[in-house]
Amino acid sequence: MIPDDVVERVREHADIVAIVGELVKLKRVGNSFRGPCPFHQGKDPNFSVSPRGGYVCFVCHEKGDVFTFVQKRLGLDFVDAVKYVGAKSGIEVREVTRAAALGPDPRERFWEINGAAAEYFTRALWDDDRGAAAREYLASRRLDRDVAQRFGLGFAPRDAQSLREHLETLGYGVSVQVEAGLLLIREGEAEARPRFRGRLMFPIYDPQNRVIAFGGRVLGDGQPKYLNSAESPTFQKGSTLYGLNWAKTAIRKDDRVLLVEGYFDCVRLLSAGLEATVAPLGTALTEAQAEMIRKYTANAFLLYDSDRAGLKATFRAGDMLLRHGLKVHVVTLPDGEDPDTYVSRHGKDKLAMHLGQAIDVFERKVQILERGGWFSDLRRKRVALDRLLTTIRAAVDPITRGLYLARAAQAVGVSESALERELELERASGIRGRETPPPEERRPARRAQKVTVAEAAAERELVRLLLHRRREIETVAERIGPRDFEGPRLRQIFSQLTEAPDAPIDALAAQLDPGSVALLDELLANPGGLDDPARIIADCLSTFRQRDLARERLDLDRQRSVADSTSKDEINLEKHRLQQEARKTGGTAPWNQFKRTDTRP
Ligand code: UTP
Ligand code: MN
Repeated sequence: MIPDDVVERVREHADIVAIVGELVKLKRVGNSFRGPCPFHQGKDPNFSVSPRGGYVCFVCHEKGDVFTFVQKRLGLDFVDAVKYVGAKSGIEVREVTRAAALGPDPRERFWEINGAAAEYFTRALWDDDRGAAAREYLASRRLDRDVAQRFGLGFAPRDAQSLREHLETLGYGVSVQVEAGLLLIREGEAEARPRFRGRLMFPIYDPQNRVIAFGGRVLGDGQPKYLNSAESPTFQKGSTLYGLNWAKTAIRKDDRVLLVEGYFDCVRLLSAGLEATVAPLGTALTEAQAEMIRKYTANAFLLYDSDRAGLKATFRAGDMLLRHGLKVHVVTLPDGEDPDTYVSRHGKDKLAMHLGQAIDVFERKVQILERGGWFSDLRRKRVALDRLLTTIRAAVDPITRGLYLARAAQAVGVSESALERELELERASGIRGRETPPPEERRPARRAQKVTVAEAAAERELVRLLLHRRREIETVAERIGPRDFEGPRLRQIFSQLTEAPDAPIDALAAQLDPGSVALLDELLANPGGLDDPARIIADCLSTFRQRDLARERLDLDRQRSVADSTSKDEINLEKHRLQQEARKTGGTAPWNQFKRTDTRP
């Protein structure tokens, strides 16, 4: 790292006009300098550099200081950018190591032991009879030796002792090996055993090129297909991107990242010359990973599998990246291909062609919904709109969001202002569309609903009544089922009661979990006020019905926002009917003194 005061001194002494001027043809205009923007390859002089230290493009809005300019244009990281500018400005820049500044890093020994293990694995792969099957496996996947070596691939032999003994001779005791996740101690077993056995090993590096973990693949079929090192002080899966150490310079320089799903995909693309490629480690893209990416670029290309799971992952990752202000493009490969198989069969140029045909993630969503017939009838339109709204909501960049809103309005056939209102409404009431309902889902997603005080009271009162007046169970069970209860404990008790109406209390309690038993005791201890069961049942059921009617109305409202005028008339009629029924069923139950706590239309 470079001390802050040195960074500031370099900034003060840097002649930004001269430094930018080496790469962009600048002309003085008033107090600043203008030239064609190198970031969007502009032709007109819309790129302005101020001698006081900043630059901005009025067209693509790229802006920053002398360091970001050098980082982005030359693909340097911050430290190298400061050194570069320092050298041009006559300021000596010396990096002080973290160790000098803060004392030794406690993670040092994890890096060392993982590095030593990586070396051991590579030798087992290339110089050892035990590696023969793994070498064959690599060949069967058309991965050449020089490529495998460049990425440090190795092989973890099956036998229980050799890695451990090797690391011991290097001075790493069993406990460090266990802490680093290379050895496992199983319960009831005296001997520690290796975590990785008979697997092809991908070392995982941090951006500083230190080995922090491994991903191990079975040779051929077997479960689990991949095994990762356990989390450790040096390795958190969710904040690691495989490949970043190789890709970071290219990501900055190309100002884009290619995101793939797996180790093989990543290695294949990196080795084919698509050097800006990284992969998350088998989990959905995390907040931390999106943040890391955003530090290098604002443009992401997703190259995930084209199957259903891959699409789902694509849109999840897309929303995550949009939330961090990136532009997101989707690359679609032919069915059944992933980037690895595709490049190994058809070559890099064909993949580059697909990259060139990448489309915006939102457009891709619209396309898929369109092809699935999701804009045909009102109910399905409503589901489709919910899916689009999720992505619109994710887009934090106002321009992107505006474009998405316009596109959604066009696709669904409603006005933009109606969609704006919908976004506001949903924000206010806390109702959220499901993330990505699976395409075959026919019914609109059941939304999580708030339960009103009156509804909760009715559920409770009804169960209390049935506990004390068992002969009423049958009548009630004809009208409602356990699923009509929102309270999980009440639902459980009700369900047991209807299954065995005559069961003694002990037998009933034996079927419940502890929380429900506590509630059961409470209800049993309170037998008062149950003299008119018919009245209580009527009141409770009417409250249930009120709730259902309110839900149906809400559902209609949600459909109305995607309807044309004829369908709107029908919806209004239906809603009117529901309202009338609601008025009629409005009960006189004691709990109706409570106001509805949620305001449904
Ligand atoms: P995939 O199952 O898509 O495998 O997992 P792949 O990358 O195409 O693997 P190959 O080509 O069959 O070898 C994608 C990624 O998910 C993680 C790994 O990081 C893998 O690269 N994964 C997968 C696991 O962590 N565990 C598993 O069991 C499977
Ligand atoms: Mn694959």
